[in-house]
Amino acid sequence: MTQPPTGLVVAITGAAQGIGLGLARHFAQAGARVVLSDVNAEACTAARDALRADGYEAEAAAANVTDAAACERMVETAVNAFGRLDVMVCNAGVAQVKPFMELQAADWDLHFAVNVKGAFLSLQAAARQMKTQEPLAAGRPRGKVITMASIAARYGAGVMAPYQGPYRASKAAVVSLTQTAAYSLSPDITVNALCPGIVATEMWTRMDRDL
Ligand SMILES: NC(=O)c1ccc[n+]([C@@H]2O[C@H](COP(=O)([O-])OP(=O)(O)OC[C@H]3O[C@@H](n4cnc5c(N)ncnc54)[C@H](O)[C@@H]3O)[C@@H](O)[C@H]2O)c1
Repeated sequence: MTQPPTGLVVAITGAAQGIGLGLARHFAQAGARVVLSDVNAEACTAARDALRADGYEAEAAAANVTDAAACERMVETAVNAFGRLDVMVCNAGVAQVKPFMELQAADWDLHFAVNVKGAFLSLQAAARQMKTQEPLAAGRPRGKVITMASIAARYGAGVMAPYQGPYRASKAAVVSLTQTAAYSLSPDITVNALCPGIVATEMWTRMDRDL
């Protein structure tokens, strides 16, 4: 596998635990300088300290991705600490397990606020910065964005189907948002979605228990 250039600045939302924290560690091990962002400020700082203790360059930026100003401050933290922002991973997300006929409006509001609006706000804040910076090398984009969708965006059946209405719809919206952003920001910024299957994190433990 080709190694990325060292020193890339990578910001990750929802990075205090789970997939986000795992990604932060892998990016750091590959030579990146990482900005960990999360709504849980205490866990976010602890995750940063753990990476620093292992010798990696890491910064913490507590932010609720549903808050546009907080997303802007997260990007400012990256630029103040490391001078630029090369990769934004819009990973923060929430998931509930609830039978279809028990769903209420608030369930839709929660999933679409965090998973869709939050992905958009963090993506847009990053793109504002990326558009102002020079590419790291000729022929490279000015920045890259990775959104975190899910296999749930692509797969309508299975035992989880009756219990994941708002989650599945929100992740399908993340795929659509990713396509819109990719067309809007090309060629300066590339935008791609990941669609993981089941990953053993606290999110999955909660869903498994509630199911
Ligand atoms: N675990 C899986 O099986 C799985 C599969 C496919 C996709 N995903 C997606 O991957 C992403 C990470 O999932 P995970 O399993 O690591 O979940 P997790 O619950 O372990 O971690 C999610 C993190 O996001 C943070 N967060 C929640 N709301 C936030 C907000 N408003 N602003 C900022 N941060 C917020 C939480 O504090 C937490 O640290 C999510 O988008 C999830 O939908 C997970």
